[in-house]
Amino acid sequence: MSWNLLYHISCFWVLLPFWILCTSSTNKCAVRHEVADCSHLKLTQIPDDLPANITVLNLTHNQLRKLPPANFTRYSQITILDGGFNSISKLEPELCQKLPLLEILNLQHNELSQLSDKTFVFCMNLSELHLMSNSIQKVQNNPFKSLKNLIKLDLSHNGLSTTKLGTQLQLENLQELLLSNNKIHVLRREDFDFLGNSSLKKLELSSNQIKEFSPGCFHAIGKIFGLSLNNAQLGPSLTEKLCLELSNTRIQSLSLSNSQLSKTSNMTFIGLKQTNLTMLDLSYNSINVIGNDSFAWLPDLEYFFLEYNNIDHLFSRSFYGLFNVRYLNLRRSFTKQSISLSSLPKIDDFSFQWLKCLEYLNMDDNNFPALKSNMFTGLIKLKYLSLSNSFSSLRTLTNETFVSLAHSPLLILNLTKNKISKIESGAFSWLGHLKVLDLGLNEIGQELTGDEWTGLEKISEIYLSYNKYLQLTSNSFALVPSLQQLMLRRVALKNVDISPSPFHSLHNLTILDLSNNNIANINDELLEGLLKLEILDLQHNNLARLWKHANPGGPVHFLKGLSHLHVLNLESNGFDEIPAEAFKDLLELKSIDLGLNNLNILPPSVFDNQVSLKSLSLQKNLITSVEKNVFGPAFQNLSTLDMRFNPFDCTCESIAWFVNWINSTHTNISELSSHYLCNTPPQYHGLPVMLFDISPCKDSAPFELLFMINTSILLIFVFIVLLIHFEGWRISFYWNVSVHRVLGFKEIDRQPEQFEYAAYIIHAYKDRDWVWEHFCPMEEKDQTLKFCLEERDFQAGVLELEAIVNSIKRSRKIIFVITQHLLKDPLCKRFKVHHAVQQAIEQNLDSIILIFLEEIPDYKLNHALCLRRGMFKSHCILNWPVQKERINAFHHKLQVALGSRNSVH
Ligand SMILES: *[C@@H]1O[C@H](CO)[C@@H](O)[C@H](O)[C@H]1NC(C)=O
Ligand SMILES: *[C@@H]1O[C@H](CO)[C@@H](O)[C@H](O)[C@H]1NC(C)=O
Ligand SMILES: *[C@@H]1O[C@H](CO)[C@@H](O)[C@H](O)[C@H]1NC(C)=O
Ligand SMILES: *[C@@H]1O[C@H](CO)[C@@H](O)[C@H](O)[C@H]1NC(C)=O
Ligand SMILES: *[C@@H]1O[C@H](CO)[C@@H](O)[C@H](O)[C@H]1NC(C)=O
Ligand SMILES: *[C@@H]1O[C@H](CO)[C@@H](O)[C@H](O)[C@H]1NC(C)=O
Ligand SMILES: *[C@@H]1O[C@H](CO)[C@@H](O)[C@H](O)[C@H]1NC(C)=O
Ligand SMILES: *[C@@H]1O[C@H](CO)[C@@H](O)[C@H](O)[C@H]1NC(C)=O
Repeated sequence: MSWNLLYHISCFWVLLPFWILCTSSTNKCAVRHEVADCSHLKLTQIPDDLPANITVLNLTHNQLRKLPPANFTRYSQITILDGGFNSISKLEPELCQKLPLLEILNLQHNELSQLSDKTFVFCMNLSELHLMSNSIQKVQNNPFKSLKNLIKLDLSHNGLSTTKLGTQLQLENLQELLLSNNKIHVLRREDFDFLGNSSLKKLELSSNQIKEFSPGCFHAIGKIFGLSLNNAQLGPSLTEKLCLELSNTRIQSLSLSNSQLSKTSNMTFIGLKQTNLTMLDLSYNSINVIGNDSFAWLPDLEYFFLEYNNIDHLFSRSFYGLFNVRYLNLRRSFTKQSISLSSLPKIDDFSFQWLKCLEYLNMDDNNFPALKSNMFTGLIKLKYLSLSNSFSSLRTLTNETFVSLAHSPLLILNLTKNKISKIESGAFSWLGHLKVLDLGLNEIGQELTGDEWTGLEKISEIYLSYNKYLQLTSNSFALVPSLQQLMLRRVALKNVDISPSPFHSLHNLTILDLSNNNIANINDELLEGLLKLEILDLQHNNLARLWKHANPGGPVHFLKGLSHLHVLNLESNGFDEIPAEAFKDLLELKSIDLGLNNLNILPPSVFDNQVSLKSLSLQKNLITSVEKNVFGPAFQNLSTLDMRFNPFDCTCESIAWFVNWINSTHTNISELSSHYLCNTPPQYHGLPVMLFDISPCKDSAPFELLFMINTSILLIFVFIVLLIHFEGWRISFYWNVSVHRVLGFKEIDRQPEQFEYAAYIIHAYKDRDWVWEHFCPMEEKDQTLKFCLEERDFQAGVLELEAIVNSIKRSRKIIFVITQHLLKDPLCKRFKVHHAVQQAIEQNLDSIILIFLEEIPDYKLNHALCLRRGMFKSHCILNWPVQKERINAFHHKLQVALGSRNSVH
């Protein structure tokens, strides 16, 4: 065996487990909460490794040919089995036996063609059976007989030629039977007999080419509630027949959409006169004529669908009898061909007077010549009227146009797309209840004096967007102070800068749309007092000049005081400057759009009050740097940021903070890697901003610099405090020294001969023995050396203090013999030391010599004598040695100290 082959074999064995793992994991069903989703897995057999306690198994969109009952033994808890979209052609009765809890069985889009009496014999608990889109052409005997709990049976899209699904009474709980899209041509008398014990709610027979309703065909299902027979080519006579057959049923909802009903007469629905029909759908027919009293038999009707028909003349009694209709849809119901005025659809006066309960009327997309003075008379409950694209020539709205609605409590009137060009004063004066008026997408071109709105006392929304032009006056909206939403998009607004503002009385306004008007001139009064304004649209105007620094009179603060504004759109205005105060008052702003402007540098603090901002858009500007002092507050709570297409300058100063923020934020920033690119410096051009390396920026990052400065200041401060605390004496001491120098106290460095004594010895009385013992021998050794010893040398009769002062003056040096006694000696403490130090300051620091006979801590020295070792040169501080052999060295040191010049070096 060659090595090569061996290698391949071993590879195979090594990789096999991975291969199995991979392939089996792609075929893995998703199991969640006892629901197993095995759809779209190309399965050819039932998975046998699912948890045994699953209740829902979804096997749709696989390649199953059957559902072998044995494979379901494991899954006895299943209540919903969805086997749709497979190639199952046979169903074994034992399946239900294995699944005793099955409630919903869906086998739509399979290849079932035969159902036998046994097929569902064990499916006692089934409540829904979906067999749509199979090939069942014939149901022989009683396959559904044991489905006592079945509520819904869907057999649509099969090849059935009859509704007869059994020969015996059965399915006593069936409520919905769906048989649309079959080949049923006739409803025979006995065809529903098998449902004789059930109370069917919904029977769906749409898209069957039914040509015949045999007498009594609905007899067995008289309790039927709803019947759909859409797409059925019934025509007027078959419809009439159908209604007669329904006459003794409990039908309430009848759908006859797209059934080629071309006209109705007083006979068409006569069959329904004993029913309580509440819903009738006659849409998408080609009804051309609605004869008088056609619906006189339907006094209980509430919902009436007549859209998409071809009526050319509505007679005054066409709707007679519809006393309870609340909803009427007449959208596109009338003939559209408008070759000549005479072929336009006609509505007789008072045609709607019967509809006393009508609340909703839709007449969109028709082609009526005009509104006549009694067109809507009698609609005393009408609340919603939609007349969008309804008229061919409703050019001018006069004070007569809506007179027929004078007694309607109309709340919403939609007049969009009617080519209206003028609103005369008082046009809406009849509509005192109106809340919403939509006049958008017309051709209105006029000055709004304000009289147009006379009588609209409850109006809250006026839509005027997309018209020809509107010239504003100070009173344009003075009569409608209740207005909350005003839409003026793309209406070539003129005179917006008039004073007082056209909007000055709209204190309840919450939404104002002034976008797409090319407005260039406004003043800071425009939005004054609109304290409830929440949404302001100013995009696509020309407001750039107003915020320019160089604007005569300074920038115009037209947003001032809008403290409740939530959404502000300023896109495409050519802004290249924003004043620092522009957004100052907008404390509740949630969204601002400044996209498509020419902004480069924003003033620091411009967004300081926008901490609740959720969405910020600055795309397509000229922004190069994103710094904390500008964007910090705005970025704080942001959920969406759009700064795409800006020429970012990828240097530390410009974007290091931004990149750092991007890396740590949860804000949604779309297209970050593709549309946030560096423009400068050249070496980064075209590089995504997020790839900019900020690590070299750390030192120069402004906040770190600030941190360092702060820290240094703090440390220096702490140092000074500590210095003063611990070394303050030194500072004041040297300060004294310096002051004396400066003030001219000359160094008194007289020649040794000038002094009578080499040194004055200050010691405690208790130490006098030590002093005698050690200083007298020194005098004897060196004849030139003479100490001033108080006890010995004081002139008799001289007052002691004066004597001390004199003696100190006559001594070249002063020696302190420091012991615990000295620290406690009152005279020394108070007077001698003070005087000596005073002289030392005047004279020189070298003039003092400290001899420590015992160890005294500096703080005690300071405390008792206000002296510190640090005040003196080290060679002037001597310690009396403990060891005898060092005494000579001590003497030598003392001599050096006595000989040293009196000076501060
Ligand atoms: C179903 O079985 C799985 C494991 O097979 C188990 O984790 C889960 O708790 C079981 N659910 C119930 C409701 O018993
Ligand atoms: C089974 O999955 C398909 C496709 O994912 C889905 O449309 C269907 O509603 C699911 N069936 C059930 C019973 O959840
Ligand atoms: C499930 O079906 C497969 C193939 O149809 C068969 O080999 C297997 O034995 C069945 N499993 C059980 C538990 O019956
Ligand atoms: C139907 O209208 C015709 C006239 O068009 C009338 O002669 C007939 O009596 C009406 N039938 C009913 C039932 O009202
Ligand atoms: C119609 O409604 C009335 C009153 O509610 C009722 O007495 C009558 O039985 C209903 N007719 C049908 C066919 O349901
Ligand atoms: C309608 O306006 C005209 C003047 O344009 C006036 O003469 C007439 O009285 C007004 N009609 C109503 C009902 O206000
Ligand atoms: C008025 O009707 C048009 C067209 O159906 C619709 O787009 C618009 O939203 C309606 N206006 C109102 C305020 O509902
Ligand atoms: C404005 O709104 C307030 C509160 O909703 C209301 O009380 C007031 O009547 C309204 N003003 C006008 C002029 O409708």
